[in-house]
Amino acid sequence: MYANFPPEFLAFLNENHIDPSVYDVQEGLPRYVRIVRYKQRTTSEIQQLVEQTRQDAGCAVTEVAGVAGFLEIANQSVKLAQLQSYKCGDVVGMDVSSGIAVHALSVSPGDNVLDLCCAPGAKLLLLAEQCMDTTTPGSVTGVDNSSHRISTCRSLIKKHAGKTRGIIRLFSADGTGFSCHAPRKLWWDPQTVRAFAQQNTTAVAAADLSATKEQVWFAPRLLSTVYACSGTELYDRVLVDAECTHDGSLVHIRKYGEQWGWELLGSQACGSDRTQHVPVLQSRLLENGWRLLKPGGVLVYSTCSLSRFQNELVLGGFLARHTEDEACVESIPLFDDKDGGCGIAVLPVWKPETEEEWMQHAARLDPRVSNTSGMFIARIRK
Ligand SMILES: C[S@@+](CC[C@H](N)C(=O)[O-])C[C@H]1O[C@@H](n2cnc3c(N)ncnc32)[C@H](O)[C@@H]1O
Repeated sequence: MYANFPPEFLAFLNENHIDPSVYDVQEGLPRYVRIVRYKQRTTSEIQQLVEQTRQDAGCAVTEVAGVAGFLEIANQSVKLAQLQSYKCGDVVGMDVSSGIAVHALSVSPGDNVLDLCCAPGAKLLLLAEQCMDTTTPGSVTGVDNSSHRISTCRSLIKKHAGKTRGIIRLFSADGTGFSCHAPRKLWWDPQTVRAFAQQNTTAVAAADLSATKEQVWFAPRLLSTVYACSGTELYDRVLVDAECTHDGSLVHIRKYGEQWGWELLGSQACGSDRTQHVPVLQSRLLENGWRLLKPGGVLVYSTCSLSRFQNELVLGGFLARHTEDEACVESIPLFDDKDGGCGIAVLPVWKPETEEEWMQHAARLDPRVSNTSGMFIARIRK
């Protein structure tokens, strides 16, 4: 594929130490889908789903060992629309690298989760399944500054979220300044919400969300009440799946050849305006996500870029601004041999000569070794 790359993109790869041979593996990568409501299905239901998907796809379909709920379809040219399981809403398209970023957060039922760059919402839907609990429902707050992409996210939620729809709220807002805290305890209890409204009539009038310039697009009734939205609670888990140049997403890069034109890959994807602006944006998103995270909580920073400027250097800058006692990069449980490991190979992160060992636990999914799309993932404990 890279024979077609414009000179600007080749220069970008060179400056960012990205070996163009990464793009050679595109043809051989499998296609991945995620089983919706995986935890609620029995083993035999899952086997049936795998078998049906295999018949429709006409090639090998297997569960991804170690990453619960993901199926690997051997032939990447299989179209989702040809799968009955997709048409019925039993599976959604999602690369396993994105699944690993979500699993790296170790969400527990009942957690309040913030997804600061959420659209179109593949990770948000999985987060909602992970924190949903029937006795103490958690919550997922999705934020994205593109109203167009938030609309797509809403459609995805309506189609696939099922009961977890009740714990999701979406904001069309800038993640670098977003400031709405996690819902208060008992946000889901109508009596608590009613009692609060009766006792706090002035607070109710003052706390008009539109005044915060953060527009709530989609939230179930109780989650959109002033009671739920005016709390001071911080989040248990924060995902900063930051805007990036997408150079690690081989499917995305291929679209330049198939739909958008290779010339745009030079100007649009990695023009100098963008490459200068993006790491600044990423750092600001990371800082704001950190501000909204509870002490003891976990933040995952991820991008689908392979560029050091958007990954190790953003993380390094962040760690330089916070002491070791404040922020600690932890190993990602799925890659931890003591926990069995998920069997997906990762490359060590790039470590600047001058830096200590702080970055060693972050991971690079490089398509040449991981057999997935490219992704950088760092798990940071507060
Ligand atoms: C890599 S995509 C996120 C993918 C998403 N997490 C998913 O799994 O579907 C990055 C997103 O960041 C959003 N974005 C860019 N700048 C932003 C900002 N300042 N605040 C919030 N979102 C932003 C983009 O609109 C885009 O939807």
